Amino acid sequence: MGGRTPVERLTEQEAKAELARLAGEIAAADAAYHLRDAPEMPDAEYDALKARNAAIEARFPDLKRPDSPSERVGAAPVDGFAKVTHARRMLSLANAFDAEDVTEFVIQVRRFLGLAADAPLRFTAEPKIDGLSLSLRYEGGLLVQAATRGDGAVGENVTANARTLRDIPRQLAGAPDLLEVRGEVYMTHGDFAALNARQQDAGGRSFANPRNAAAGSLRQLDPAVTRSRPLRFFAHGWGDLSAPLSDSQMGAIRRLAEMGFPTNPLTRLCDGPDDLIAAWAEIEQRRATLGYDIDGVVYKVDDLGLQERLGFRSTTPRWALAHKFPAELAWTRLEAIDIQVGRTGALSPVARLTPVTVGGVVVSSATLHNEDYIAGRDSRGEAIRSGKDIRAGDWVQVYRAGDVIPKVADVDLSQRPEGAVPFAFPDTCPECGSPAIREPGDSARRCTGGLVCPAQAVERLKHFVSRAAFDIEGLGAKQVESLWRDGWITEPADIFTLAHRFGQGPRQLKNREGWGEKSATNLFAAIEARRRIPLQRLIFALGIRHVGEAAAGLLARHYGRWDAFETAVTAATEGSPEWEDLLSIDGVGTVMATSLTAAFQNDAERALIDRLVAHLDIEEVARTARDSVLAGKTIVFTGTLEKMTRAEAKARAEAMGAKVSGSVSARTDLVVAGPGAGSKGKKAAELGIETVDEDGWLTLIGGG
Ligand code: IVH
Repeated sequence: MGGRTPVERLTEQEAKAELARLAGEIAAADAAYHLRDAPEMPDAEYDALKARNAAIEARFPDLKRPDSPSERVGAAPVDGFAKVTHARRMLSLANAFDAEDVTEFVIQVRRFLGLAADAPLRFTAEPKIDGLSLSLRYEGGLLVQAATRGDGAVGENVTANARTLRDIPRQLAGAPDLLEVRGEVYMTHGDFAALNARQQDAGGRSFANPRNAAAGSLRQLDPAVTRSRPLRFFAHGWGDLSAPLSDSQMGAIRRLAEMGFPTNPLTRLCDGPDDLIAAWAEIEQRRATLGYDIDGVVYKVDDLGLQERLGFRSTTPRWALAHKFPAELAWTRLEAIDIQVGRTGALSPVARLTPVTVGGVVVSSATLHNEDYIAGRDSRGEAIRSGKDIRAGDWVQVYRAGDVIPKVADVDLSQRPEGAVPFAFPDTCPECGSPAIREPGDSARRCTGGLVCPAQAVERLKHFVSRAAFDIEGLGAKQVESLWRDGWITEPADIFTLAHRFGQGPRQLKNREGWGEKSATNLFAAIEARRRIPLQRLIFALGIRHVGEAAAGLLARHYGRWDAFETAVTAATEGSPEWEDLLSIDGVGTVMATSLTAAFQNDAERALIDRLVAHLDIEEVARTARDSVLAGKTIVFTGTLEKMTRAEAKARAEAMGAKVSGSVSARTDLVVAGPGAGSKGKKAAELGIETVDEDGWLTLIGGG
């Protein structure tokens, strides 16, 4: 690490002390990593600690400690919770940062619903609690299950722990037969300080902030520990239910309060953007004296009928918005600029900082985005920070907004040390030495080493096993890294031969430090269970640039089967029918199509994919969307719709797997024609394309 004595110059005495320090720091980082409730050490920093430890051990083999970090694969992950698939996904919220965003939100809602500017439209405004979300399932009025959010689709079953919270009723009177209550678990400032003091007295670890304390306390394997922690709960919504609670958000929240749930007293009704912003300002003013952390104000359309019509984008509701408070700031010294190489080869500059507290969290590194950002330019070459560049040694302003990684916002030139030099962004990869090239239009410089670059290879593996991809129980980032370092897993296909290679014979997984008979057997079983994999997960897991989770879903729904997908993207070259078909998918553009086809048409990449797929049994897409009457159809709306706006009609069509197009052609499957359909209606008739009126459309989507 910077500033430490180079290993070659350590005395034996110093080496011994260093090994002790490193063992402690690495163990702490492992614990934080595996519990996930404490701020994590950046991977580069962790790797540097491990590397230094290994270098010292190599030079002084006799000093190797019995608890040496090089012998450990990391602490056992907290995997004691069963998984729960949420009956309704737990989504996140779109964010607003200023008044303009709020006005825009209201305009969008009106436009979507086709409401006149003067038609009444009410919203609720309430604090956004900085805690962790929890879904509580009641059947027949009894609390039967509590689950954390997890990835939104699948969370952890923490029922026994939730039952220990006094704010959570175990039994409800006057509730629908089935009711999922959603809300936020949090800890007050006073309780947090007292808990940390107790922890310190007992020699335990203290928590960085109330949210981490709440998360760490709820996710305890022993409910008795949770019971001893002062956790609180606010209800702010619901998931699945057998009967509506009310016809308004406010009414529903009131019902929840009547059933015995704490609801936030600052919740109020607002009429429009000005009123919302006034509510936001009022809540922000009270923020410091509330006694618990909030990070913004949530606005929700009050009328539940309208909420239903507005529906959802892929991960956020159209009827709600989180208006965040400004980020928290601090100044500190930038000690050095490190370069991390990511999964897609991007060289990401990271600021190594003198640790500083920003909004209650100790920050020791921050992202610097890319080379332009360091140089004081944006992607169009225009000056940012008045053109000031960032150099090692600079006094910099760091900020954190909500959950996001800390960022460097500004630099104080009056504090710049003499002799500080502009940062020279590397043009070779620091991990593999390959040229690092910046393509026109790309903000990142990328390593061209591809699969020969160790950093890319290991990052891709970590992505492969991540939660939204293969999600193999017991095989997290740290395990992958360790198995990769020793060459046991070098590419995805290796995971599926692991049991064959290391389940028997001279070198066995169960004999590795950190593993045992049981964990090895469990891992082999978990891998086995993932041989059968849904198509969209596989596509996402491949880690192709620009192909994220949502895109993988679109591709999977479009092609339905692996062989169809694979044949098409292998054959797709610009101008070919396969290429046009790929681009016809709503949400797939040329950038994604180019990246995707390039991966399948590159020999080495292709071989890697083929080796992997040989081990898999790939599920076809769940047929619900594809089997709907509209699935895969191309629809054109023309003329006036009276019962819903175009935007709503388009959203409904897409939700049922259809594609909406603006013009009628031979490839159109259905035309929905309202009054005044004009030339498009005529063309549809000429081409003999099925045409329905608005009522016909409503019948088709099941709403007529
Ligand atoms: S409503 C469809 N209301 O913020 C999601 N969420 O960024 C509806 N949160 O995970 C969420 N306070 O757990 C809502 N008053 C509030 C909230 C709140 C905190 C959390 C929620 C969600 C996250 C979304």
